[in-house]
Amino acid sequence: MKNLIILGAGALGQEVAWLVEEINDFEKEWILLGFLDDYSSIQNERILGYPVLGKLSDAKEYKEAYFIVAYGDAILRKEVVLNISKYNVNWANLYSPTVRVHKSNKIGKGVVIGRYADLTVNCDIGDHVYLNIHTVLGHEVKLGDYSIVSPNVTINGGASIGSACQIGANAFIREISIDDDVVVGASSCVVKDVESDCIVAGVPAKIIKKGRPNTRISRSER
Ligand SMILES: CC(C)(COP(=O)(O)OP(=O)(O)OC[C@H]1O[C@@H](n2cnc3c(N)ncnc32)[C@H](O)[C@@H]1OP(=O)(O)O)[C@@H](O)C(=O)NCCC(=O)NCCS
Repeated sequence: MKNLIILGAGALGQEVAWLVEEINDFEKEWILLGFLDDYSSIQNERILGYPVLGKLSDAKEYKEAYFIVAYGDAILRKEVVLNISKYNVNWANLYSPTVRVHKSNKIGKGVVIGRYADLTVNCDIGDHVYLNIHTVLGHEVKLGDYSIVSPNVTINGGASIGSACQIGANAFIREISIDDDVVVGASSCVVKDVESDCIVAGVPAKIIKKGRPNTRISRSER
C-alpha cells in the first residue's frame, strides 16, 4: 500500500477522503496519512478521523508519499500544484471502482474520477483534473489541466475545455470550445464557443460576468 496525503481539508478534501475509503474497500491501495492545509485554525485537528498534518509547504517532508490536490477553486488548484511541484512530489490518480473508462482515453497525473463517471473513448484529460460523480464525457472530449467538473455534467463528444475551468453541477456542454479560466454556472446549457476568463450561465448560456465568481475562497486562508 502507498501513503497518500490530501492537499486541502475543506469540503472537497473530505469527499476525496471518502473516495479513498471507497477505493480501499474494493482493493486495499492507500494508507491515508491525512491532510495538509494552510488554514490555521484546523492545524492538529482530525477531520473525518484523519489528522491535519501541517501546512501545504510541509509536503516536502513526505518524500515517499503520493499527493492529490482537493481544492474546489481551479485557480487555487493550479497555484497549489505549481508550488508543491517544486518539491518533486509523486501525484496520485484516484478513480472510484465504479467508473467506466475506455482504454483509449489519455489521462494525466493527479486526476480524480468520482463515482459512476463514464468516459467514453479517445478523451484527453489534463493533469490535476477533477471529474465529480456522474460525469459523462462523449468521444474525444478535451479537458485542460486543473479543470473541475461538478456532479451530473454531460459533455458532448468533440467538446474542448481549457485549463482551470469550472463546470457547474448539471451543466450540458455541446461540441463547442471553452477557453481557459471559464466558470460555467450550474444547470447551464453551453451551445457556443466561450472566450477565456469569464462566467457563463443560463439556457442557452451567456456571459454574465468577466473574471471569476465573488464566492472564491480567499487564497491566504485556503
Ligand atoms: C454561475 C455562478 C458561478 C455565478 O456566481 P456569482 O458570480 O456569485 O453570480 P451571482 O450569484 O451574483 O449572479 C449573477 C447573475 O447571474 C444569475 N445566475 C447565477 N447563476 C446562474 C445559473 N447557474 N444559471 C442562470 N443564471 C445564473 C443570477 O440570477 C444573477 O442574475 P441577475 O443579475 O439578473 O440577478 C454560480 O451561480 C454557479 O452556478 N456556480 C456553480 C455552483 C456549482 O455547481 N457548484 C458545484 C457544487 S459540487
